Amino acid sequence: MPKTIKIFSPATVANVACGFDVLGFALNSPGDEISMALNGSGSVELRDETPYRLPLSPEKNVTAVALQSMLNALQSKQGFTITFLSKIMPGSGIGSSAASAAAGVFGANELLGCPFTRRQLVEFAMQGERAASGTAHADNVAPALMGGFTLVRSYAPLDVIPIPSPPIFAAVVHPQIEVRTSDSRKILRHEVPIKKAVEQWGNLAGLVAGLFTGDYDLIGRSLHDVIVEPVRALLIPEFYAIKQAALDAGALGCSISGSGPSIFTLSRSEATAQKVALAMRYGFDRVGIENHAFVSSVNKEGVRVVE
Ligand code: HSE
Repeated sequence: MPKTIKIFSPATVANVACGFDVLGFALNSPGDEISMALNGSGSVELRDETPYRLPLSPEKNVTAVALQSMLNALQSKQGFTITFLSKIMPGSGIGSSAASAAAGVFGANELLGCPFTRRQLVEFAMQGERAASGTAHADNVAPALMGGFTLVRSYAPLDVIPIPSPPIFAAVVHPQIEVRTSDSRKILRHEVPIKKAVEQWGNLAGLVAGLFTGDYDLIGRSLHDVIVEPVRALLIPEFYAIKQAALDAGALGCSISGSGPSIFTLSRSEATAQKVALAMRYGFDRVGIENHAFVSSVNKEGVRVVE
């Protein structure tokens, strides 16, 4: 019997308000689970046990695309059997495609004796994101693979920096509406007025400084997105009412998670994050939108072997 490993790959919150395409962090749950084994056939065989009818052709499946880019770099003709056991709901804004891409390259790397570091795997997982949304952004795959908060300082060449953080708790609420990343990228403006750019990079630098020094007030003052949120908020019913409710319940800050529709907050304590999650859920319940909430500390490890 070939060795089979089971992988857990975490959900992630990208952008973190002011860091569009460059900042993200990993959650402890939810996440994807896959099992993976070498199969000696020279091809990648995919099996889906999730309720989501994942695309199983190797050119369309994000896990297979990411894995193939890694095998190309190794000039390897290894075959793998991958079974998707459970999955973050696609189109939720918490890094569903990134978790799948990270799981595939991480699992293959483990089965092949770890030729790459986690940081090196980011470049391959990004190819899965390209297949999913048309853009090889790394702000979900980097924290999924490396854990914690990560900053993509540069894409060419890729330069991913781990950012330390104090104890901090995310509450994420996912309304049951689907927003495709490719669609919510199409509506963005391509030019940014310099005044807005100055505000945004001031906040991004403030957020990174606050995370490094554990200055919660600075983190809270910096969690503002003046460029992307005002455009994408239109895709999320009740966004501003829910954001206000989260801040009133004690969140340090609140914005759209990745490309939405999930909304994330950060709080100092788990108790506050729970209170914030309830306040946000009520905002959706009130208008009859089904929703789920996740409260999590920051996952410092990232994708891992569970069995
Ligand atoms: N930075 C990406 C975006 C994240 O906002 O489009 C997608 O999850």
